[in-house]
Amino acid sequence: MCSGFDLQFCSVQTSKSLLAGVQATVKLSAMRSTKDLYLDLMKKCLIGLIYADVEEKPNLQFEPFDEAKRLEGRDWPTYAHTMIGMKRLNNLQFCVEEMLARGVPGDLIETGVWRGGATIFMRAILKAYAVKDRFVWVADSFQGLPTPNSEKYPADAADRHHEFKELAVPLDQVKSNFAKYDLLDDQVRFLEGWFRDTLPNAPVEQLALIRLDGDMYESTMEALVHLYPKLSSGGYLIVDDYGAIPNCRRAVDDYRKTQGISNEIRQIDWTGIYWQRS
Ligand SMILES: C[S@@+](CC[C@H](N)C(=O)[O-])C[C@H]1O[C@@H](n2cnc3c(N)ncnc32)[C@H](O)[C@@H]1O
Repeated sequence: MCSGFDLQFCSVQTSKSLLAGVQATVKLSAMRSTKDLYLDLMKKCLIGLIYADVEEKPNLQFEPFDEAKRLEGRDWPTYAHTMIGMKRLNNLQFCVEEMLARGVPGDLIETGVWRGGATIFMRAILKAYAVKDRFVWVADSFQGLPTPNSEKYPADAADRHHEFKELAVPLDQVKSNFAKYDLLDDQVRFLEGWFRDTLPNAPVEQLALIRLDGDMYESTMEALVHLYPKLSSGGYLIVDDYGAIPNCRRAVDDYRKTQGISNEIRQIDWTGIYWQRS
């Protein structure tokens, strides 16, 4: 506390400590590693925060860029490479970093990649940590969602996702998106086709992380049935649409029930969830 006598001295001290505070902050931000800076910039690029591209709605309708919506992954960007928003990218980073730190064995896969953004980010994290012995598997039809197979999956009977042409992104386009970040290499493997055809015999041996983003009951269930048994103990299962799409949630709940999975479901944001396999 400064008395009247000390006032001048005190204000010099105050500005000195202010300066020290500023210097400490500058030092702290300078201390952020190149790896963190790279991954943060990747996330901003992948969701389109940098150039703020407008929202694309079905049938060529457009809405102005809304930062809050984009951060939460509530819109379909016109150009950005993922629609999952910042919180789900942060969750993906958390899960990959955790499984790397604890040495959980296996590769990474996303089923349902659209323009590839989340898988591009997986590859970026492996690159940032100089991990050379894990693959990123990129599974998609690269032609949108399947028409419902209501005989096998009655829950999908009224599903209309296959009508959205915006969700059909060709394989060449996704490869070229990887290449734009210098991340298209032999650690990235593509599984092209319907999940019911590609996943049962996919040459994937062991997984440390599975990210499901196929929207429909069929797409979620096929991925769980064929991939979950390959998930290592300590590995992560992430579901993008658990909150947003009732059929996706139903498939996950059904699978957990039939397999007796009781690992705690943790919420990421308004729609994403994940759990760690025991
Ligand atoms: C919502 S998008 C995925 C968004 C993406 N994860 C991202 O980061 O923006 C759904 C994707 O799942 C694919 N898909 C859904 N069901 C499928 C199935 N049964 N077989 C193959 N691809 C499927 C679609 O082609 C589409 O690319």
